[in-house]
Amino acid sequence: MNDLTAVVEQARAAFELALTPAELENSKALYLGKAGRITELMKGLAALPVEEKKLQGAAINQAKQGIEAALNARRQALADRELQAQLQAEALDVSLPGRQRGTGGLHPVSLTLERIEAIFGSMGFEVAQGPEIESDWFNFTALNTPEDHPARSMHDTFYVEGGSETAPNLLRTHTSPMQIRHAVQHVKQHRLAHGSAVDGTLYSGDMPEIRVIAPGRTYRVDSDATHSPMFHQCEGLWVGEAISFKDLKYVFTDFCRTFFENPDLVLRFRPSFFPFTEPSAEIDIQFPSGPLAGRWLEVAGSGQVHPNVIRNMGLDPERYIGFAFGMGPDRLTMLRYGVNDLRLFFDGDIRFLSQFR
Ligand code: DAH
Repeated sequence: MNDLTAVVEQARAAFELALTPAELENSKALYLGKAGRITELMKGLAALPVEEKKLQGAAINQAKQGIEAALNARRQALADRELQAQLQAEALDVSLPGRQRGTGGLHPVSLTLERIEAIFGSMGFEVAQGPEIESDWFNFTALNTPEDHPARSMHDTFYVEGGSETAPNLLRTHTSPMQIRHAVQHVKQHRLAHGSAVDGTLYSGDMPEIRVIAPGRTYRVDSDATHSPMFHQCEGLWVGEAISFKDLKYVFTDFCRTFFENPDLVLRFRPSFFPFTEPSAEIDIQFPSGPLAGRWLEVAGSGQVHPNVIRNMGLDPERYIGFAFGMGPDRLTMLRYGVNDLRLFFDGDIRFLSQFR
């Protein structure tokens, strides 16, 4: 009997020494396997007399149950330990603060463009978009700037390979080509809709006015604190039957005062030259107070659309006339926010840009 108790204790001790399920199964074989201790003891029963066989058999069975109980207890303990280790390894620290995802915002120049579109939109101007890779025709020739015209050299143009009458061969140096593109489209659509043959003749029939702004990117070989090789312009065009310089003055003055939220802003139309307008004026603004007070700040070029340009729009200059302007949204943004280096807008430094959110 004492023997059997000792066997159970040995088994229990062996099971305790097993550190993994595999080791435990090996130990189990030593006691409960085919050649294990218990099996051996069972075999020994055969030689005993019946009475003793009964007693001894019952005792061995009891020992076997004791070993099985120890085995199961150890199995459970190892499983628990494994689960515990796994839980610890995969633990989530729910007290860590979450990662923040900052909200984005519009670029300051985009904010200005939105503002320009809203203000001119309220005055009945459409918004048109055009290609940044342009042809000589739209960028210069159609705007009354033929080849070899000295005004071409005022634009330090980025040329690209190729180029012909119709093929794009340069990065547009201003948004003015949109005057032609938009007007030609406007006239053509009107003529098609009203049974007027689109035959290359200049149109002098009735037609709704052209009133459009065209904001977008423009390019020139230029780079310093106030010039960037890529910059923005916004073109404006109003063509009708009696649209004159006084309308330009009224519209642009109203725009500037609304844009800068300053009804006392002063404007100056300074005589200038552009091939596509006659007369032409540069528009300067002056703040009545604040850090920029007393200085004339140039914000746009403008003028009455040249008859040759009206012709290139497909219109008869005897009937149609209008004004145009081209302004610099980058400049307007600098003035509005008091930024003195244009390059800050295009460096992409989030510390700068996030201030406009
Ligand atoms: N395109 C001119 C420039 O970039 C600006 C300009 C002047 C636009 C007069 C106009 C205009 O529409 O009428 O320098």
